[in-house]
Amino acid sequence: MANVKLMGGESIPMEMHKVRIVQKINLLPVEERLDCISKAGCNSFLLQNKDVFLDMLTDSGVNAMSDNQQASMLVADDSYAGSMTFTRLENKINEIFGTTYVLPAHQGRACENVIAETFVRQGDVVPMNYHFTTPKTHIVRNGGSVEELLIDEGTDVTSMHPFKGNMDLAKLQDSLERNKGHVPFIRMEAGTNLIGGQPFEFENARAVCKMAQEYGVLTVLDASLLQDNLYFMKVREKACEKLSVRDICYQLGQMFDVVYFSGRKLGFARGGAICTKSTALYDKMKNFVPVFEGFLTYGGMSVREMEAMAVGLEETMDMDVISQGPQFIQYMTDKLVEAGIPVVLPAGGLGCHLDASRFVEHIPQAEYRAGALSVAMYIASGIRGMERGTISEERNPDGTDHYAAVELLRLAVPRRVYTLSHINYAIDRIKWLYENRKLIGGLEFVEEPAVMRFFIGRLKPTSDWMEKLAAKFRHDFGDSL
Ligand code: F0G
Repeated sequence: MANVKLMGGESIPMEMHKVRIVQKINLLPVEERLDCISKAGCNSFLLQNKDVFLDMLTDSGVNAMSDNQQASMLVADDSYAGSMTFTRLENKINEIFGTTYVLPAHQGRACENVIAETFVRQGDVVPMNYHFTTPKTHIVRNGGSVEELLIDEGTDVTSMHPFKGNMDLAKLQDSLERNKGHVPFIRMEAGTNLIGGQPFEFENARAVCKMAQEYGVLTVLDASLLQDNLYFMKVREKACEKLSVRDICYQLGQMFDVVYFSGRKLGFARGGAICTKSTALYDKMKNFVPVFEGFLTYGGMSVREMEAMAVGLEETMDMDVISQGPQFIQYMTDKLVEAGIPVVLPAGGLGCHLDASRFVEHIPQAEYRAGALSVAMYIASGIRGMERGTISEERNPDGTDHYAAVELLRLAVPRRVYTLSHINYAIDRIKWLYENRKLIGGLEFVEEPAVMRFFIGRLKPTSDWMEKLAAKFRHDFGDSL
């Protein structure tokens, strides 16, 4: 985004795009919001989009496309095998990461499935900076386990460390020593999702890959949130000051043995891909693609989405494009900090993350405080966020809850979708909610799937707090929505 100052000296995140297609959104009265979230089992995933005002659930598959992306979709080459569209996408991915081979997949977790099926065996351990739900599930499903080796500041929501997604190198070395012969690969996640979209440092990635080489272990980069990580490397890291975004991306592609990403995030479209420089690794992985995804030239993706992704990946090399999300998030975070509201610091990518452990500290962790805050947020604003706390964890083998290290309500900022007035509305309603936080109560499960329960599990409030919160809203706002 351009560095534009207003007369008073204040800087605002200026949109470097104009809106040419719009979609109507609805803001329901608070009583209807109460009804909708109750019917959705107090799970924001189960709300109907028509009942949502600002959809801040995720940035996955919901980023705005550019005119050039839309235009490219019209020239897609629809063929099962040997599609020119795939060749264009393949060339673009290989160009930006400096790789040689591309395997397509229908989305990020499908790449994770192929990678886990190929490399993970019973008893294996996969060290990583931090887990994400879908790769962890695939690793565990194949008999492996994960070790999270994030630096200690990573889960300290108040630490101002600029690269909280960094791997702790001493912990990594210890893990590689302890697990010799059982480490199929090390996974680094860009824009580390579950700790608030926090980046890792270019130099940290370099050190991880060097250590991996010394131990003869493969490295895998989850580049789903790389666009934010690239932005942060460029603006926060001395080693990247003189490099272009394109240089940084290329060099990362050279460091890691395998790179994969969700095209629902990286590339502003819908799909996914794995890329590598290694013929041997490509050969090992490729047979799983026709089994799980589709032929090697589409992998479950629509050709239109592949065209749009190729253009989106090129647009990702543009700082004006990739700065939009982080700068909106920074603005939102700054305003909330000014109001004394607990958020994850420093502002990361992906979204603004409310720290539920301090926001609603009166709710026991056993009553899912981050989930409760997401319900309260919807009642107070029609905004749908995503619980990123204990509900997003799997239970321990003995059936007890595994308490998350951080209890967050993620308010994702899909790129180029919302305007600053939407963000200001969100800030206002969060302030109101904070003033009324004591009204928020806990949740308990009613229906709980054994795996990834956060997606479709259903809960209910532990008291009538939802009605009381809605009544207070009506009292304070009168006939306003
Ligand atoms: N890796 C990361 C870091 C992700 O954030 C995601 C998805 C995936 C892998 C899986 O990709 O959804 O295309 O299968 N994150 C979404 C989110 C679900 O809302 O944060 P996918």
